[in-house]
Amino acid sequence: MDSFIANERANRQAREYGKQFTALLQEGGYVSPIPDLWEDILVGVVLKKPVLLKGPSGSGKTKLAQSISHFFNQPMHSVNCSVDLDAESLLGFKTINASSGQSIIEFVEGPVVQAMKEGHILYIDEINMAKPETLPILHSVLDHRRMLTNPFTSEVIHAHPDFTVIAAINEGYVGTSPMNEALKNRFISYSIPYLSGEQLREIIQNLFPLGDENLVNTMLKIHEDIRKQVLNGLLSEEAASVRSLLDALALAEHMPVIRAVRYAIAEKLEDRMDRDLLMELVETWVK
Ligand SMILES: Nc1ncnc2c1ncn2[C@@H]1O[C@H](COP(=O)(O)OP(=O)(O)O)[C@@H](O)[C@H]1O
Ligand SMILES: [Mg+2]
Repeated sequence: MDSFIANERANRQAREYGKQFTALLQEGGYVSPIPDLWEDILVGVVLKKPVLLKGPSGSGKTKLAQSISHFFNQPMHSVNCSVDLDAESLLGFKTINASSGQSIIEFVEGPVVQAMKEGHILYIDEINMAKPETLPILHSVLDHRRMLTNPFTSEVIHAHPDFTVIAAINEGYVGTSPMNEALKNRFISYSIPYLSGEQLREIIQNLFPLGDENLVNTMLKIHEDIRKQVLNGLLSEEAASVRSLLDALALAEHMPVIRAVRYAIAEKLEDRMDRDLLMELVETWVK
């Protein structure tokens, strides 16, 4: 590993966190589909650049963010974006507390404020699902200023040196809007493809150490076929989702492969022709 990354890792790993934050430490396990991808992302993190992971559903974006938390032994706060996401859910809110007979107004810090102050990881999932007017509040957090004036308290917050932002998007997915240019411009962007072949086998072996080898081989062959059809433009990309494949494997330990693949993969595809094609592929491998 690059000493640049290793030194930073040693520094972050040496930190200690209180009980309320150790629960935010994540498990690792991401397997890099391209040899350099994992380290290239770590370089972005060590340079304190916000990192954007772009990839289809089930390609391991969340797993990758968790693995970065694990790698640096650094707590991770997650924000899930939706049209309802507002400044309060990012920054926090005011509340009234009774203390020795007096009511006092207190500010409960949200994930962005906590991660900035404590030097944690902030994971912003599906960042392009948020309303365009919500996120500009983060512009000064995401560029070289690394600071925020909290509009609710007027507090000026400078981020801790270890504060790290990782965001994820599923480009072209129904319900998402393209990410605003000013926002996108602040990130270093990485495309996250689906895993295949031997690396996929590696994940499967980690998750299903007692799995039936024949079943695993059949599933991997089906997945290879699906990938080919996706590359040829005959199936939508989600058909090759690693998450769906792992779900199919879990089901197939308790039912025939055909049904497992139907429930875990085929039924999720919007297009009827996609579903039919997929089931035809499966039937060539299992009778
Ligand atoms: N490259 C990968 N390495 C390890 N696990 C992966 C990888 N890709 C997908 N997975 C597994 O697939 C499932 C879905 O991954 P997830 O991170 O939730 O995907 P995404 O956030 O991109 O939708 C998880 O169980 C995850 O462990
Ligand atoms: Mg995810």
